[in-house]
Amino acid sequence: MIAIRSEREIDLLRAANAIVAEVHDLLSEMVRPGVTTRELDRAAESLIRERGAKPAFKGYRGYPAATCISVESEVIHGIPGKRVLHEGEIVSVDVGTVHHGYYGDAAVTLACGAVDAARLRLMDVTDLALSRAVRAARAGNFLREVSVAVESTCKAAGFGVVRDFVGHGVGTALHEEPQVLNFDSGEPGPLLRAGMVLAIEPMVNMGTHRVRVLRDGWTTVTADGKPSAHYEHSVVVREHGGEILSQGTRLRWGCRSD
Ligand code: MF3
Ligand code: CO
Repeated sequence: MIAIRSEREIDLLRAANAIVAEVHDLLSEMVRPGVTTRELDRAAESLIRERGAKPAFKGYRGYPAATCISVESEVIHGIPGKRVLHEGEIVSVDVGTVHHGYYGDAAVTLACGAVDAARLRLMDVTDLALSRAVRAARAGNFLREVSVAVESTCKAAGFGVVRDFVGHGVGTALHEEPQVLNFDSGEPGPLLRAGMVLAIEPMVNMGTHRVRVLRDGWTTVTADGKPSAHYEHSVVVREHGGEILSQGTRLRWGCRSD
């Protein structure tokens, strides 16, 4: 069963996701050469708690931090720690909150200083894939259209789309039905209805789509060591396309029409 959320519930999800967006804005100012991933995580957790919310990831299946910070060949679930960021690296910041029982979840990939053209293109294509997927999150579409939007965009660019991890429904739990694949399984999947809420999260590799999990049990890295990007929005299915709940001032870079 995929929940259909009332406008009251969507307002609560919007509030939880607004905190996530605020954290992304803060960390996008903090990401620079010399900062550690632990400093970023601490700042994120402080802001989440100042807003009266809780970090949704901390303690989830034993996860030890408020954020997942994944640098370069780390795809997702990088554990913040002593790692120092260097000029030219790309850094994915995944943030979850829970506020009044409703969850916020979104991720963005940030550039540390000046990054090369290949990385910029990887980030841009992944962000474009997400924005096309959001547009496909329209009542009356099958979920497959969302997956196809991601896969077709990334494949056309020659990038590898991660298959071992997926997006998800989000609401009164961090992970709800349905699974949101970033590739076409060949099945239509569920029919989308207005009020469903999806966390759509393409994870896209410059090289092979293959990934492996490190011995810490969390950090997921590309099999070939090449960089990876990850963008995620929590999105309400509406009649004419998805409504993003986790945008914040990423509008500065987002809101694209292509
Ligand atoms: N955004 C990711 C997800 O939706 C991160 C959660 S993993 C956690 O699955 F363990 F850190 F919570
Ligand atoms: Co998620």
